[in-house]
Amino acid sequence: MNVRDALRRRVSANRYDTVATVAAGTIEELIAAAMEAPSAYNIQHARFLVVREPEARAALQRIAHGQQKVRDAAATVVVLGDRRAAERLPLIAERAQRAGLFDATAAAAFAANGQAAYAGRPELARDEAIRSASMAAMALMLAATELGLATGPMIGFDPLALAREFRLDERYLPVMMITLGPAAPGNWPRKPRLAAHEVLVADARPGQDHAFSPAA
Ligand SMILES: Cc1cc2nc3c(=O)[nH]c(=O)nc-3n(C[C@H](O)[C@H](O)[C@H](O)COP(=O)(O)O)c2cc1C
Repeated sequence: MNVRDALRRRVSANRYDTVATVAAGTIEELIAAAMEAPSAYNIQHARFLVVREPEARAALQRIAHGQQKVRDAAATVVVLGDRRAAERLPLIAERAQRAGLFDATAAAAFAANGQAAYAGRPELARDEAIRSASMAAMALMLAATELGLATGPMIGFDPLALAREFRLDERYLPVMMITLGPAAPGNWPRKPRLAAHEVLVADARPGQDHAFSPAA
């Protein structure tokens, strides 16, 4: 399956095989695929909490305003964004150095610059955590599609209850949940999309008005 096939095949599933399971190795494979996504400074803000055990799924369903798919899916991946992920930049720079991408001076400068960019800017740290974790979430869903597994991104849950019941430190922002598992029959077909020409300014230039400019 190529990437465009996966993009077209993925739909948000509501119906899952309630007795199916997903092997721990498959979940690890999907998380590894998710980590291939880009992130600001390669900080890799995404963290993942995977809920599989039936009672834990029932607890998560309550947190997700009763949405049945959370109970039914073999697993739900809670995608978190680490607001303090930039603290790991020295480690990330060191690994890049070991991979031959940087020398020691460049690695130190990279880590220092990255950390300086976030210092005293909690809104930026939060926005980057959401953006980068969302990229990882999409990568995970495409990789699951390739494996023939259904997924469903969800923001319909109570983040405070999630943090309380699943004991999350406040640095970890719940970005979305992704239900995951073999589908049952009865899911929606693919929903139509706006055409490219409806959402596109194809040759934007400074000083020229276009579809997204303020109305005259
Ligand atoms: C950030 C985000 C949050 C969503 N939250 C929910 C949700 O809480 N419950 C739900 O049933 N679907 C949720 N959806 C799924 C959307 O309704 C779905 O993606 C959209 O209708 C397009 O359909 P498709 O994913 O099948 O292409 C969410 C999707 C996204 C991207």
